[in-house]
Amino acid sequence: ASTLGASAAEKGRYYGTAIAAGRMGDSTYMTIANREFNMITAENEMKMDATEPSQGRFTFTNGDRIVNWALSNGKRVRGHTLAWHAQQPGWMQSMSGSALRNALINHVTQVASYYRGKVYAWDVVNEAFADDGRGSRRDSNLQRTGNDWIEAAFRAARAADPNAKLCYNDYNTDNWSHAKTQGVYNMVKDFKARGVPIDCVGFQAHFNSGNPVPSNYHTTLQNFADLGVDVQITELDIEGSGSSQAQQYQGVVQACLAVSRCTGITVWGVRDTDSWRASGTPLLFDGSGNKKAAYTSVLNALNAG
Ligand code: G3I
Repeated sequence: ASTLGASAAEKGRYYGTAIAAGRMGDSTYMTIANREFNMITAENEMKMDATEPSQGRFTFTNGDRIVNWALSNGKRVRGHTLAWHAQQPGWMQSMSGSALRNALINHVTQVASYYRGKVYAWDVVNEAFADDGRGSRRDSNLQRTGNDWIEAAFRAARAADPNAKLCYNDYNTDNWSHAKTQGVYNMVKDFKARGVPIDCVGFQAHFNSGNPVPSNYHTTLQNFADLGVDVQITELDIEGSGSSQAQQYQGVVQACLAVSRCTGITVWGVRDTDSWRASGTPLLFDGSGNKKAAYTSVLNALNAG
């Protein structure tokens, strides 16, 4: 096929992008997004600070703009994210203990209930592991409510939207030999053994020269899939340019296609100028909306074989 989404669909996968509500008036951006992608993640608009700016008062205006545009154009939605140490509203940042735990569970319940039936997969918990080389949990106000906060969030999400796939999502978990990868793997294994409802693991995949696409990526994805979960590349971007960048993008497609439970890939933005990174050229379209070499390598890899 001739677009990323249609080519991925022929392989039983999706190819998605993050969308920012503030850019939805940009016709170049929206034309590319609508043409190329069939899975949509709100870049910021469904996070905790956006959806519950004051306690118990929920706002879904910007999330709805993105979700309704996606669904009315035949695309699916990844919900991002119900529970995270970052981008918490101010009132939540200063909470602790059982009050915070109750507020977290209420947030998960209210947001997942509001979007029930509209979300293919939720990043229920985002970035809960540390980069300490030991595979530990990250310290945060949520972690200090008790080590079971993650499973409590997953159980609340399942109760609120029984048909959404429930994912754990993190970064620096791509290389199988990293301690953080092993920490997440052991948590998922434990959740599956104890019947905690988890359906998928998201690999953010923010790559750069110091953290390139690992040669063992396929191994990582397969080992997680073998635990009985789907795996997804959820926030892909790769610093660099030209053929080196294109080859790495191709490698990510090949790793996903090699794992039957790798259900899709999402890039974290449309054009280089839409990226969260302050500088650089990490995406598939240049600032003018032209297809880069990386785009062509992704399309060819999706259509190969
Ligand atoms: O909306 C305000 C605007 O009103 C204000 O004038 C402006 C000035 O700073 O800030 C705007 O908010 C910014 C927001 O993006 C929207 O542009 C925040 O400051 C900024 O911190 C926020 O950055 C987002 C970041 O998450 C926050 O943690 C990025 O857009 C977003 O791409 C990024 O996404 C994360 C994923 O959720 C999780 N994984 C890592 C990934 C990249 O950091």
